[in-house]
Amino acid sequence: MRTGEMPFVPSKNNRERTGFMDTFPMEYSGNNLGDYREGTLAVRTMGGHAGVSLTYVSHRIYDGKEPLEGLPATFGDKDVCQTLEITCEDKVLKLQVLLSYSVFADTDAIARSVRIVNGGDEAIYLTKVLSACIDMDNEDYEMMTLHGSWARERGIQIRPIMKGKQSVGSVRGESSHQEHPFVAWKRSSTTEETGEIYAMNFVYSGNFLAQMEADQFGFIRAMMGIHPDNFCWKLEAGESFQAPEVICMYSAQGIGGMTRNFHDLYRQHLIRGIYKDRKRPVLINNWEATYFDFDTQKLLEIARQASALGIEMLVMDDGWFGHRDDDNSSLGDWQVNETKVDGGLKYLVDEVNKLGMKFGIWFEPEMISPDSDLYRAHPDWAIQIPGRTASLCRNQYVLDLTRQEVRDYIYDQVAAVLRSANIEYVKWDMNRPLSDLGSYGLAADRQGELLHRQVLALYEMQERLISDFPNLLLENCSGGGARFDPGMLYYSPQIWCSDDADAIERLSIQAGTALLYPLSTMGAHVADCPNHTVGRVTPFETRGYVALAGTFGYELDVTKIPEADRNQIPEQVAMYHKYNDLVRQGDYYRIAHYAQNHYYDCYEVVAKDKSEALVTYIQVLNRPNVHSRRIHIPGLDPDRVYVIENTQDWPEMEQTQYRGDTLHYAGMNIPPIFDDFQGRLLHLRAI
Ligand code: DGJ
Repeated sequence: MRTGEMPFVPSKNNRERTGFMDTFPMEYSGNNLGDYREGTLAVRTMGGHAGVSLTYVSHRIYDGKEPLEGLPATFGDKDVCQTLEITCEDKVLKLQVLLSYSVFADTDAIARSVRIVNGGDEAIYLTKVLSACIDMDNEDYEMMTLHGSWARERGIQIRPIMKGKQSVGSVRGESSHQEHPFVAWKRSSTTEETGEIYAMNFVYSGNFLAQMEADQFGFIRAMMGIHPDNFCWKLEAGESFQAPEVICMYSAQGIGGMTRNFHDLYRQHLIRGIYKDRKRPVLINNWEATYFDFDTQKLLEIARQASALGIEMLVMDDGWFGHRDDDNSSLGDWQVNETKVDGGLKYLVDEVNKLGMKFGIWFEPEMISPDSDLYRAHPDWAIQIPGRTASLCRNQYVLDLTRQEVRDYIYDQVAAVLRSANIEYVKWDMNRPLSDLGSYGLAADRQGELLHRQVLALYEMQERLISDFPNLLLENCSGGGARFDPGMLYYSPQIWCSDDADAIERLSIQAGTALLYPLSTMGAHVADCPNHTVGRVTPFETRGYVALAGTFGYELDVTKIPEADRNQIPEQVAMYHKYNDLVRQGDYYRIAHYAQNHYYDCYEVVAKDKSEALVTYIQVLNRPNVHSRRIHIPGLDPDRVYVIENTQDWPEMEQTQYRGDTLHYAGMNIPPIFDDFQGRLLHLRAI
């Protein structure tokens, strides 16, 4: 803490306050009173003044962890988790700040959150409430973040931490395609499997700020929380404000150790519901098969073929309601279009059920089309600023969910559809960012609450959905993966990873996603070729291998694909059933990343008891005149012998045996493979 070094910080040292406040680590920093680094909390009093500084009052330690009201959060009972709660106060403002730290010893994680209580006798505006701050020495750290775009989500980026501030964030009202509520700092010597790394991941689905600041004395301040842009929360006397949770993670086993800690934490202490640890039905989704151009007969044709091939669920995507034949209308009118779904929804679902398949359906509950009965009846239900033409995106507006009557109306429509037939899966989509922030439901001095209230409303609706329909499999989605975050994972055990289902593009997207999130959460499908997003043609086998690293399903018209591809589906489905327990529950290791080496990609999942492992090897581009490639396979039991099985395309590897330590330290040679975009699976079984 360096409290013995100059300048000293006795409480009476007001003479030099601005000289010492930013030379010491702060646990939760204030604003405008002498610490010139970026603070975590800022306020404005009714008199118009800023200025807040906290001092320790008391603390308590208790076993287990209390839920955060209205917010997603990790959970753990008293055997695995203990919580420290520190009460601090700004005596002038009579503002109490409760800092909460729950320690998950099984995964080296600390879940932090903050609650602000207004103990004064008048309201105060909170203009910034971040959830966590870590001040420490800069020991040659590099900053790691995830960046992307639509169809290119979550690319891994590493850069030096320079003096000054460097941040990522979202002001789009969702965690976003572009940046991710995650930041890590690692020593430059840290590798995939060795060395130290610290990380923060925000359990929240709206605006966020994740920032590193390197100061004049060689310290760094890492911070994370709700982005202060457009945030202003009026806290009445006696009220409290709960800021969302940040997961702070540490690993001394490299980036891979951090990844596996996150996977275990989220699998054990965040994801809920009956599918938490269950194999998901292999689904076929009609989006890339038909887009908006389908009817009952077309869907049943797909279902008949699919069921004969072993596929277990049909998902009817966008276009089944109102008069939605393209993306220009009907959001908000959640009534079945019986011209398309002729015979009605129940008939369709019953017919699909008769084929032995489950049925799933798509909604976009947070949105409203200008061309909808709902908008014609309630134009004020769209988020907008009075007097300004609100921006459209995909020709739609965002519904103002801060209003209870809007939430109830939409929820009741969704629930009525779900009750009308045997629907066992919902894809909850969200296809535009928020803008033009204004609500007819909020008072003038509460407009700055809109963005956070919108996220709270989303959480409330999803909580209601999963409580009313506990057997439903919910998959979240946002134009692909714009809302793939721990907040949404609290409600749905899986999230559609990206609209780009090209097997090669998916290698990067899935590697970036799996940096934090278990493979069991990544929506991944075998899609049509030429690929609809990039035009690439990849072998059907390779598409299957890559989709096996996620929830697995199909996104194509099974009646139209080449027969040779169709004939592979039963075998792919069998592979899914054979390996999914391992993929869902095992430890994930990145071995090679083609975004770095340009030629091949390789990753592995090892069973917790190390009895088996599955290695996926994808040769992205072939090269002429090369030798076999040496791959090091970590994570196995060094003292056991593993036999390589299931290499139907690779007879020379079949039944080869290696010790675990040999595979790790010496590695094994992957024979040359002819052609681009080729994939291989190696199943290693301990004997
Ligand atoms: C975006 C999703 O990511 C797609 O899978 C599909 O559901 C479309 N929306 C439908 O509009």
